[in-house]
Amino acid sequence: MATAARAASCTTAARVVLVLPIILVLIMAGQVRVAEALSIGVNYGQIANNLPSPARVSWLLRSLKISKVKLFDADPHVLRAFLGTGVEFVVGIGNEAVLSMASPAAAEAWLQLHVVPHLRAGARITCITVGNEVFKGNDTVLQASLLPAMRSVHQALGALGLQGRVNVTTAHSLDIMGVSYPPSAGAFHPSAVPHLQPFLAFLSATRAPFLINCYPYFAYKDDPGRVPLEYVLFQPNAGVVDQHTRLIYDNMLYAQVDAVYAAIQALGHTDIDVKVSETGWPSRGDPDEAGATPQNAGTYIGNLLRRIEMKQGTPLRPQVPIDVYVFALFNENLKPGPASERNYGLFYPDGTPVYNVGLRGYLPPLASAASRGGALQVIHWFLLIAIASVAFFLS
Ligand SMILES: *[C@@H]1O[C@H](CO)[C@@H](O)[C@H](O)[C@H]1NC(C)=O
Ligand SMILES: *[C@@H]1O[C@H](CO)[C@@H](O)[C@H](O)[C@H]1NC(C)=O
Repeated sequence: MATAARAASCTTAARVVLVLPIILVLIMAGQVRVAEALSIGVNYGQIANNLPSPARVSWLLRSLKISKVKLFDADPHVLRAFLGTGVEFVVGIGNEAVLSMASPAAAEAWLQLHVVPHLRAGARITCITVGNEVFKGNDTVLQASLLPAMRSVHQALGALGLQGRVNVTTAHSLDIMGVSYPPSAGAFHPSAVPHLQPFLAFLSATRAPFLINCYPYFAYKDDPGRVPLEYVLFQPNAGVVDQHTRLIYDNMLYAQVDAVYAAIQALGHTDIDVKVSETGWPSRGDPDEAGATPQNAGTYIGNLLRRIEMKQGTPLRPQVPIDVYVFALFNENLKPGPASERNYGLFYPDGTPVYNVGLRGYLPPLASAASRGGALQVIHWFLLIAIASVAFFLS
């Protein structure tokens, strides 16, 4: 009888010992995972010398419920800082490395170094952009090497057993468009077509998305007298009718995206998703940069955010929710060019929002990395004490 009771209490105690760590792990996982994530993605650019550490940024993004991040490189510090968060990454191969990627061995080496270890550790990397806005300039060598580079990265992913897990594409500038209005007349610039034809065939065959960087702000800045601010800021306006399709556009971003769909279709493809890899609005600019104010930036981003969370599609693809990466997370003080270039951020480097669009984030103070270690230590001690007391109870 006594031994039976003792055995029963023993198994109960054993269960406690087994279950306790599992519960603790679940509690911790609940704290670090992104709960009810937003659908919006964000570009995490780092051309600055005053940005918070990736560990702090990871807290900020989780507190914002942002779970999609686009990098311009494959910064290992960032990828490590986000391990276990569930945040999904687009990583980039810079233009300077595109030429060398044409060699399959180089592509495989790049993946082995920049992607494979993070995937093994549990990172979510779902897309690699090979080059950025390659057809914007006139670097014909770079342009000619883009597709071979994409092919070898794709091949190397296959060789590493990662086919289907990571998309391979590139991000285009809207400058590749020869015609973008009306949307149904959308066509690529004739000089880009010879490159884009095989490029589209590659995207179609590999089921990868077409990424486009769209800035209605540029159109407004170039011609503030004729481009209605309401139309570019998603504010109530009469909209414009595409006479060919009879579709009504109430904002320029959707018109730009549909122009890209039309241009792709004109080259024979209807099976390629178009995603907005960058869009944004500067909160400050030089005196000749019309419209670069915190008010306009807040209106643009706030309205865009609402439409994304409504899972709205464009007039041409109403069933396909727009997929957008906002540019950018932080103001980047070392970006060259006009003042606007350094003022696209949602946040200042100290984590305070540049304007209020209801994105309330928390950037932990500098000491927080230590305090996080402290929290882990408390849990370890708690576990040890729990195990010790169960052992004591058993003896
Ligand atoms: C094109 O190339 C020329 C000379 O190589 C350069 O000066 C010019 O800035 C380039 N234009 C663009 C748009 O990149
Ligand atoms: C790759 O892109 C396609 C097309 O947009 C998408 O359906 C698919 O989910 C993407 N794959 C990954 C791993 O994200």
